[in-house]
Amino acid sequence: MITIKVFESYDEMSAYAAEIVKEVINSTEKPVIGLATGSSPIGLYKKLIEMNKNKQIDFSQVTSINLDEYVGLSSDHPQSYSYFMNEYLFDHINIDKANTFVPNGLADDLEQECRLYDQRLRDLGYADIQILGIGQNGHIGFNEPSAKLNTNTNIVNLTPKTIKDNARFFDSIDDVPKQGITLGLEGIFKAKKIVLVANGLNKAEVCKSFADEYIDTQVPASLLKLHKDITVCLDKEAASLIEK
Ligand code: F6R
Repeated sequence: MITIKVFESYDEMSAYAAEIVKEVINSTEKPVIGLATGSSPIGLYKKLIEMNKNKQIDFSQVTSINLDEYVGLSSDHPQSYSYFMNEYLFDHINIDKANTFVPNGLADDLEQECRLYDQRLRDLGYADIQILGIGQNGHIGFNEPSAKLNTNTNIVNLTPKTIKDNARFFDSIDDVPKQGITLGLEGIFKAKKIVLVANGLNKAEVCKSFADEYIDTQVPASLLKLHKDITVCLDKEAASLIEK
């Protein structure tokens, strides 16, 4: 079931989403959390860091598994998702980094890396909670709009739209990697709970699709309506095209 929550501000949205994550971590013996990068969850990660400092959450038993990574960037590249996770979360909480997983976009055999990543996810029993953002084109992870969506972890050619959207983080658009490695739809859907955060007017058009009754592989996030427990947290700008 999908629950849509609308908040006055990014800060309130982030605080609410962090509470959901906190409850899962605090009520699970060995929690597995699925993580996303990008600008949307930065506020949520800040709240988790605060909660860890205030001893409201303990990450010592947590395993994390990230959604995606660029192909061709090393973990010490400032735009790699691995670097992002250290900077915005892992370096500030008491998680054991040996229990944090991000796909290796530099693997010699990328297909094998995909299979190993799926195996890892199965071994972990899938995520207790999956944090998601959403691309302006409706992508989740790097699962781009397409007639066919992949169930497994896979290598994706990024769409021109995603390359353009992500160019803001690079010196030039030519520096944006052209491929990503991403969990597939099954890996995302097997999470027991999903919390998706989206903010800003540039997400308003795509977020409209959470409120209608259709699914469309050209808007991969629309499929999330089929998940049994998903909370979509929007600030009022992102929710501005949803009719009340
Ligand atoms: C990142 C990811 C992407 C982002 C999406 C939105 O790990 O999975 O799907 O969630 O591109 O990015 P932002 O939050 O930067 O707008």
